[in-house]
Amino acid sequence: MDFNSNNKIVVSCSPGLNIALTHELEKLGFEIVKSDPKAVIISGTFNDAMKLNYKLRCANRVLWHIASFRAIHPNHLYKNARKIPWEEILNVDGYFSIDSFIKNKFIRDTRFGNLKLKDAIADRFMEKMDKRPDTGSSKDQAVVFMFWMNEDVELFIDTSGQSIAKHGYRKNPGEAPLMENLAAAIIQESNWDVKSHFVNPMCGSGTLAIEAALIAIGNFPGKFRTNYSFQHLKSYNSADWKKIKNEIESEKETNTLDFKIIASDISRKAVSTARENAKYAGVDHLIDFQVCEFEETLIPAGKGVVVFNPEYGERMGEIAQLEKSYKLIGDFLKQKCNGYFGYIFTGNLELAKKVGLRTKRRLPFYNGKIECRLLEYELY
Ligand SMILES: C[S@@+](CC[C@H](N)C(=O)[O-])C[C@H]1O[C@@H](n2cnc3c(N)ncnc32)[C@H](O)[C@@H]1O
Repeated sequence: MDFNSNNKIVVSCSPGLNIALTHELEKLGFEIVKSDPKAVIISGTFNDAMKLNYKLRCANRVLWHIASFRAIHPNHLYKNARKIPWEEILNVDGYFSIDSFIKNKFIRDTRFGNLKLKDAIADRFMEKMDKRPDTGSSKDQAVVFMFWMNEDVELFIDTSGQSIAKHGYRKNPGEAPLMENLAAAIIQESNWDVKSHFVNPMCGSGTLAIEAALIAIGNFPGKFRTNYSFQHLKSYNSADWKKIKNEIESEKETNTLDFKIIASDISRKAVSTARENAKYAGVDHLIDFQVCEFEETLIPAGKGVVVFNPEYGERMGEIAQLEKSYKLIGDFLKQKCNGYFGYIFTGNLELAKKVGLRTKRRLPFYNGKIECRLLEYELY
């Protein structure tokens, strides 16, 4: 198995985040082979896959391709999978689990497909080494991923294991928080230039402001994570991984900012949660916190972005009250945020109409199963 040459890497993401992920991968210097709503395909070395696990903010998992073949029966899967030199990939004294996406007429229960693949790997080990690794459902160690669509099987090493969508600094989620990968994607798709002010009224647990601060100083989510699936592969060398991490950290530019990041909320508890999360993320000194009505949020003179994620009636808040809030947000953007780009991230387009400002862009997103929009307003 050649881990040094360029190979197919599939980076999976939450539905609809592929556009932000595509832009993120392009910024990191990758050429995009294909992008669909749940995944972006690129080409890279195994070292690239490890670095992506550390750096990516908008992704879920990084999959490293190991084999492709045709199968029209579970026994074909078994036969072909058994030919793969698993003893060169997985540790015989280790542990692995199987994950999959299967859509075809040969397998009705995904678990049966997974079992067939697990048997092929275990039997290959027994044949070659008279011993086999343990298996189970935990994704804390090595993970093999199978994508079996109609007659085509693709096998991957899931180099992440547990999803990298959670960035690991949020010890207290507060109420109705944004997922960290979604917050990062919202910022990535906004017009924020990472040189001007970033204002986040209604900050809740602070996810947007914290992600903005992490982006501003070049701190990656990997800083908060100690375990990836690739660390349980036979080829893993901890000294190499340490060197890669040190190289990434040495590229970091700054720990201070010459613009403001402001997070405010009417709820004292929310602001205290946001401050606590920011402290854990190591960026509390970079964010000005305020407990106030959103209309009283300090808007520094100059340029920047103001990003709102108000309640939208699905999980919290009453619609009539929210209609008033959305109108007041529109008034605030118009009257107080001159020179800024305003953003509202919402899952309720009826409420968005109450803002009363003309949108410049309307970017589609999903928050879980809820279809959302990031609405952009240019404020002159
Ligand atoms: C959907 S939550 C924001 C979640 C946040 N993006 C996060 O990741 O945790 C909306 C927040 O708006 C705050 N809020 C509601 N009405 C407000 C008002 N009039 N002024 C300021 N904050 C308000 C709530 O306290 C709540 O924390």
